[in-house]
Amino acid sequence: MFFKRSARLPAEFPTATPDELRAELRRRLGGVQRHRLLQGFPMAPMMGPAPRAPIIQPDDRQHRPMLIGVLPHTFCVPAVKGCGFCTFPHDALKSSQMVPLATSIARRMGLQARSFQHRRIAGIYLGGGTANLTPLPALGIILGGLMAFRPQETELTLEGVPRFFTAEQLDLLTGAGLGRVRISMGVQTFDPGWLTKMGRQNIGSPEQVAAAVALAQKRSVGTSVDLLLNLPGQPRAAMLSDIQHAIDLGVDQICLYHLVLRSGLPVPWAQDPAMLDALPDNTTAHDSWRAARTLLLSSGFEQRTLTNFERSTAPEQFTYEPHSFRPHTCDALGFGPGAISGINFGTQSQALKWINHASVDDYLSSSSFSHSMERIYAYSPFEDALMQLTRGLAMLHIPTEEGALAAQIAVFEPELAVLEEAGLLCRGAAALSLTERGMFFADSVAGLLAWRTVQYRNAAGRNEPARHPMG
Ligand SMILES: C[S@@+](CC[C@H](N)C(=O)[O-])C[C@H]1O[C@@H](n2cnc3c(N)ncnc32)[C@H](O)[C@@H]1O
Ligand code: SF4
Repeated sequence: MFFKRSARLPAEFPTATPDELRAELRRRLGGVQRHRLLQGFPMAPMMGPAPRAPIIQPDDRQHRPMLIGVLPHTFCVPAVKGCGFCTFPHDALKSSQMVPLATSIARRMGLQARSFQHRRIAGIYLGGGTANLTPLPALGIILGGLMAFRPQETELTLEGVPRFFTAEQLDLLTGAGLGRVRISMGVQTFDPGWLTKMGRQNIGSPEQVAAAVALAQKRSVGTSVDLLLNLPGQPRAAMLSDIQHAIDLGVDQICLYHLVLRSGLPVPWAQDPAMLDALPDNTTAHDSWRAARTLLLSSGFEQRTLTNFERSTAPEQFTYEPHSFRPHTCDALGFGPGAISGINFGTQSQALKWINHASVDDYLSSSSFSHSMERIYAYSPFEDALMQLTRGLAMLHIPTEEGALAAQIAVFEPELAVLEEAGLLCRGAAALSLTERGMFFADSVAGLLAWRTVQYRNAAGRNEPARHPMG
């Protein structure tokens, strides 16, 4: 299953002429552009089954910082299935599984922490969907498990829906003394008509959002809100009014997510022809995204990632996302069902990415950390560089003299030349930068960069499904 780690490109690696690359890029520019959902190469369906044997050495002796992502559960309580649009995990709530899950996660943390004794924990994210549904006893167990990593002066984020943030929860998080605390919540829109269509009028009403923000601000807890752009038929003025509402609430971070919706996506809105027909074309959607970005930049926000804008007067920047988009400088361990991990990018060791069993039952019945893995991918050096490129796009600038890219950038020269010609990125002496147009079309940029690698994996029979959006 694991590739031999050779620095050379495989002999069968496909070539592509500039015209073939231009045609492929044109095809991609006409398709759905994912921003929030952009992962680094490869996406989950391209990853193989995980081995049963443990893959992490007892002591990795590295001093790189590490992120810890925790999905305490996969449960959610949407009134409309998936709020109409959401592809994140949202199993029906089973309260009885919360404490067993937390206990299992904490036990795995205890076992795993022994292998990572030298690491500084750069950030902790409790998320994956609606992590704030986790009851206090289960949250306490998870916080206890995290202590095995001896986190100090780190950042701790809790993600969830506005209605379920409570004073007790925030007091527990701030009382843990791990460092700066942030809450991140889906708002999507403040428009009552759309909130009703999403079934969010009782979990994310404007009043519930304001109450959650106030709870956080009273405790100096950071606040982040997600807004959706380009809902079907949504006028641009309505998008800007949502953003202005969020700015006026005084939140620290606003995340703009261009709606990902297309026929065939497993969400209710994708079954509704009227919704699909009312979606803006990419040119119009790009114009609206640009207007939204301009409003935030002119209102004292700085764009830190493809989607995240932070108030420039904030005393400190949030750290989780910048670390997670630079996998060659920071490792990530994921705990809980469906959590993603990635280690050793840009080092001499084998770079690995894996995903845990997504089903709560499978996760609970797996007896060890290794057994909780469902899919894994072992990178050869040029793929390690591809990961650095595709994941790094979210940071808008990608250093090219660091990590695996330092030795492997030439592999991607044909794609980079076509992307530069198309006005999507600029190449400097030591970094690549997305242009403003490249930001909106970052999904097409990532897809083109990965295209030949996916063809190669397909031809070698090392790709599970024949086609995937990344390829
Ligand atoms: C996992 S949700 C977490 C938030 C929380 N569960 C809530 O709904 O309030 C993270 C965010 O992903 C975004 N998201 C989900 N599905 C999306 C889609 N199809 N297109 C774009 N963004 C999406 C939404 O803005 C959502 O707030
Ligand atoms: S948007 Fe949030 S609340 Fe709605 S289904 Fe997705 S994870 Fe659940």
